[in-house]
Amino acid sequence: MVIQPAERVRGAVTIPGDKSISHRAVMFGALAEGVTSVRGFLPGADCLSTIDCFRKMGVQVEQVSATELRVNGVGLHGLREPDDVLDVGNSGTTARLILGILAGQPFHSTLTGDESIRRRPMGRVTNPLQEMGAKIDGRAGGKLAPLSVRGGGLQGMKYVSPVGSAQVKSAILLAGLFADGTTGVKEPEQSRDHTERMLRAFGVPVVEEDGYTAVRGGSSLVATEIEVPGDLSSAAFLLVAAAILPGSDLTLRGVGINPTRAGILEVLREMGANIELSNERLSGGEPIADLRVQAGALRGITVCGTLIPRLIDEIPVLAVAATQAEGVTEIRDAKELKVKESNRIATTAAELRKFGAQVEELEDGLRIVGRTKLRGGAVVQTHHDHRIAMAMAVAALAADSPVTICDWESVDVSFPGFAELVQNIR
Ligand code: S3P
Repeated sequence: MVIQPAERVRGAVTIPGDKSISHRAVMFGALAEGVTSVRGFLPGADCLSTIDCFRKMGVQVEQVSATELRVNGVGLHGLREPDDVLDVGNSGTTARLILGILAGQPFHSTLTGDESIRRRPMGRVTNPLQEMGAKIDGRAGGKLAPLSVRGGGLQGMKYVSPVGSAQVKSAILLAGLFADGTTGVKEPEQSRDHTERMLRAFGVPVVEEDGYTAVRGGSSLVATEIEVPGDLSSAAFLLVAAAILPGSDLTLRGVGINPTRAGILEVLREMGANIELSNERLSGGEPIADLRVQAGALRGITVCGTLIPRLIDEIPVLAVAATQAEGVTEIRDAKELKVKESNRIATTAAELRKFGAQVEELEDGLRIVGRTKLRGGAVVQTHHDHRIAMAMAVAALAADSPVTICDWESVDVSFPGFAELVQNIR
């Protein structure tokens, strides 16, 4: 993909559906009694992997259109043993959440994924699921995919997670639906709460008690209608493009602004970007709004602590914004970046340096000194990581000559049509 520099971005666009919420709509719809209709579904490769896995367990998922689904729920105990390996592709969310569900099934299943998935730590979910009683084996003693699961006979437990991770929390809560008694999870920092919100929309009581988020075993799900908001993590690429290209004025319609996800809005505002929210409303239990962003003079800041899980997926593109901010930006407490689709501390730093940016890798984050006029002409690698691909495309918009991005296809994981959309807002 060759990205041409842009003077500015302007206009109004609708952002594709939220990836986290689209996955959950399919999974919870599959476990529910009745037919769940989903609108605004993200037809990205990751969410299609989730559909594929549930079809292999006997769930009929009708794709009425690219963004509309009818999920024919089989009920809490209606999944059947898959007769082939479940392939999650590049999707960590599919892998970890589905492991929670598989742990509760009285059958055998095997799960694998692409090269990146087979490197990513699964012990963070397989260990607590084993403690609950699931039999899980795999590479590295059950810590790396391929993994095989023989589930059932789970005991509820109180689990203190060492990481603030919605994938870990969700896997355990989902297993908790199949366990005896109550299952609760406590985390060091609050992670995104889409699972809790959507389980409630499906009629499952989710309680907060002594710092634990908990469900009771046997709580059944009742089919519902899900309206998926636009993905703030996808919107973030366009927010940053508009924030750093002088004269930009861009409106993004119907974007999810769930407070457990909205760290990027706070940080970009604090850096000096002009972001206005309008038409704020609730959609399927999730807050959404239209976002209007205009370029502003940006300044560097420090981003750390409890803010990190609230913008974890936006850090590569935040680093691009930081190259255009006056002074130093430091991102700390973000070790989790090392175990994403790529090691995003390393890949963000390596690729941004090709533009002449001053980026230093830290043990737990990045240090960026701005402002740098970005050089074009580079050949950039995505490391098969969709967010690195799009972050570098945003840097390319601000560069002084065209930039070539290799292995662009990974963008389809979360934002099919991104390149065309960027072309239309110049
Ligand atoms: C996700 C949770 C986050 C995030 C990922 C999606 C989810 O991962 O990075 O893109 O849908 O639950 P962790 O929970 O591992 O932090």
